[in-house]
Order: sequence, then structure tokens, then C-alpha cells
Amino acid sequence: MRTADVFSFLFITLLIITKASSHLDNGSSASEWEGLLSSASNDPSIDHTDEDHQQFTAGFSSLDGMLQWAIGHSDPATLKEKSNHVQSLSSDDIMERQTQIKDLMGKLRTPSDGELMKIAIADLNNSSIISLEDHQRALDELLILVEPIHNANDLDKLGGLIAVIQGLYDSHSNIRITSAWIIGKACQNNPLVQNQALGHGCLPKLMKMVKSRDSEEGGKALYAVSSLIRNNDGGQQIFYAENGELMVQDIISNFSIDGRLRKKAMYLVADLVDYKLEHMDNLNTPFFSNHLLLKSIVNHMSSSDPDLQEKALLAIRSLITLDYIEAVMLKDVCNLDVSLELMRQQLEHFMIVEDQKDFAIDMEILRRDVDVIFQKKLLLEKRSTKQEFAAISSV
Ligand SMILES: *[C@@H]1O[C@H](CO)[C@@H](O)[C@H](O)[C@H]1NC(C)=O
Ligand SMILES: *[C@@H]1O[C@H](CO)[C@@H](O)[C@H](O)[C@H]1NC(C)=O
Ligand SMILES: *[C@@H]1O[C@H](CO)[C@@H](O)[C@H](O)[C@H]1NC(C)=O
Ligand SMILES: *[C@@H]1O[C@H](CO)[C@@H](O)[C@H](O)[C@H]1NC(C)=O
Repeated sequence: MRTADVFSFLFITLLIITKASSHLDNGSSASEWEGLLSSASNDPSIDHTDEDHQQFTAGFSSLDGMLQWAIGHSDPATLKEKSNHVQSLSSDDIMERQTQIKDLMGKLRTPSDGELMKIAIADLNNSSIISLEDHQRALDELLILVEPIHNANDLDKLGGLIAVIQGLYDSHSNIRITSAWIIGKACQNNPLVQNQALGHGCLPKLMKMVKSRDSEEGGKALYAVSSLIRNNDGGQQIFYAENGELMVQDIISNFSIDGRLRKKAMYLVADLVDYKLEHMDNLNTPFFSNHLLLKSIVNHMSSSDPDLQEKALLAIRSLITLDYIEAVMLKDVCNLDVSLELMRQQLEHFMIVEDQKDFAIDMEILRRDVDVIFQKKLLLEKRSTKQEFAAISSV
């Protein structure tokens, strides 16, 4: 919001409040308020530091915040000097008016996020609130409230994480779905909440939910699983101990499973491989060199869904970087060379279609990236095989 917009909004708001509170205000005219406000907006003592700027650009979190700001930034002495409308009032009068606004705001105050979270959590935890609608409404509220990281950080402290995890066991699928969604959202890039949720032991339950017949439930559960174990060593250990690799492989290799779920699963594979690469963990994880898995991922490169093709390419790009995955195997067993060439031809075709062009160019850059790594690795493997062969024959 621009500064001018903020003030015109403030002005209208104050007019409404003035009208609504004529008993408090008793006789003050709108023009007086206008004077009060315009003098605040023109006040040269307001120095536009980053923080002020932030307040404006980020927007006030509430009406209350906005008014507090206006009140805080209007110096009675300056106001008196500057405003034509309030010139007849003494500084004391204006000060009194400011106190009145503050009192009024106290009554009109919107509840904070923390208070709203407490209310939603109390509703979830209240055994006399059993209607599905109320339960769902409380969860829908939490889903929005946990988005900012500081709110997510408070969730467990308020007893909310346990209440939401209980929702995973509900008999209504919508309650289970929203509960998984909240967990996924709260854990996203948040090690604190990840560890709290892992501590409450919800990962195995979520992994079971991934196998649900309902693709909506499976999808939200897989989202939560990924969010829970991303960059989290402890979470990944539980994931592998619970046969997470089999779960992922079953999804990727089964083409009758919802495409969104397969996309998420391939994304998860790339993520898990990247984590290993980042931590120099090049120990052979049989999962990643599983031919069935690799073959299924390569097959997705020929999918008719460009999103699936992209996720497959990204997964291959990560996998091929692992030392123990041989390029020659990707060629001979998975036909990666054939898939890459087919994709190249397909993208070439899309590049002359106007509305597909940009996308096709981006995808071709990624495809070429993978192709270059693949060809290099093939060459290196050939060379080292020759050397080995030479070493053996010279013996
Ligand atoms: C408003 O002012 C009038 C006199 O100007 C007074 O009689 C009345 O009691 C006041 N009302 C309130 C609510 O203060
Ligand atoms: C539970 O909800 C009922 C109905 O809204 C309410 O009367 C009661 O005070 C609530 N109990 C708690 C512990 O919040
Ligand atoms: C939930 O309710 C139980 C008793 O019904 C209470 O002991 C617990 O403190 C409540 N938790 C929250 C977060 O309100
Ligand atoms: C593939 O997925 C479908 C739909 O979820 C399921 O019915 C089928 O059993 C799965 N096939 C295999 C081999 O797991």
C-alpha cells in the first residue's frame, strides 16, 4: 500500500469510528479528524526509515496496528501547529482525543493470531464440539494460521500439534486430509516443527495414509511426509526404517496412480538424493540403484504431462550424479539415451508452437544438462573399463 492510500484508508476508518462513537466523541466534526490526520501524514518528523517503509509495504497486520501507528506518529505540538481544523484545540484537547481513540481501539481490537490459534485448538480439543462442520472449520482456520513461521513455531506449545495429529486418525477423510495438510505446511522448511512432529511420532501414520485409495488423501499425506523429512536426518532415518523407499517405488512404477502423486514422489526422490550428495554420503543406497525405480523414472520422460517429464528429468539429474549409479546401466537397462533423444525431438517440435515456446526452451536446457552429464559419465566409464581391461591383459 502506498502511504497516501494508507492515510485515505485510515481517514475513512476514523470517520466511521467517529460516527459510531458519537457518545464518546460528542460533537467533534469530521473536518477536525481530517485535520488531525492530514497533519500526521505531512509531519516532517516522521522519518521514513526502513522499518516505517516495511510497515507500509508489508501492510499493517490489523486495523489496530494502523491506528496505533497513526497515533504514535502524531506529535500533539506538530498537529496543533499544522492543522487548520484543529487550531482552535489546545494540545491537551488533542491529547485527550488521542486517548479516546486508544480506548476505542482497545474495545474494537481484532484478536491476534495467537489468540485465534488458541480458539481453534480449544475447539479441536473440546469433546463437546463433535459436529463435523465445527471440526473442519477449526482445522481450516489453523491451516491458514500456521502459514507464518512464528505461528507454526507456537503450534506445539499451544497443544495444537497433538490435536492436529489426532485428526489423522479421524473417521472422516476430509478431517484426515486437512490435518495432514496442516502438518505439512507447519513443517515446511521449519526444523523446529519437523522435530516436534517427528517426536510425536506421526511419520509412520502419514506414510500409511500415502497408500490411501483416495488420491487426495494420498497426495496430502505424501506432501506432509516430504515436508517432514526434507533436510532432516532423523526424519529420513525413520522414513527408510519404515520402508519409505518401497512406498515411493510403488507410486512411481504404477502408472494407474494419480499423476500428482507420482510427481510428488519423483520430487521426493530428487530431494533425498540431493540431501545425500550435500552430506557427501555416497554410500550405496540400494533404493536409488534399483533398476525398477530408475526405469520407471526414465519412462516418465515420455509422459504426455510436461510436469511429469520435468520431475523425471530432475530426479534423473540428481540420481546420475551418484557415483554408484552407472551411466552404462542407465543406457542399457533404462534406455536413457533413447528417451533423451525422443524428448529432444518432441521439444524441437514444441519450440515452433508460439504458446509452448518458452516452456520448451526451459525444458530443453534441463534436458541438455542431463544429456551432457550422462554422456560424460558414459565416456569416463568406457575409459576406466578399457584401463581395467588393459591392466588385466598385461598381467
Ligand atoms: C455531549 O455534550 C452535551 C453538551 O454539549 C452534553 O449535554 C452531553 O451529556 C454530552 N454527551 C456525552 C455522551 O458526553
Ligand atoms: C466446549 O464447547 C462448548 C460448546 O461450545 C462450550 O460450552 C464449552 O465451554 C467448551 N469447553 C471448553 C473446555 O472449552
Ligand atoms: C485438552 O483437553 C484436556 C482435557 O479434556 C486438557 O487436559 C488439555 O489441557 C487440553 N489441551 C488443550 C491444548 O487445550
Ligand atoms: C496400482 O495402483 C492401482 C490404483 O491405486 C491399484 O489398484 C493397483 O493395485 C496398483 N498396482 C500395483 C501393481 O501395485
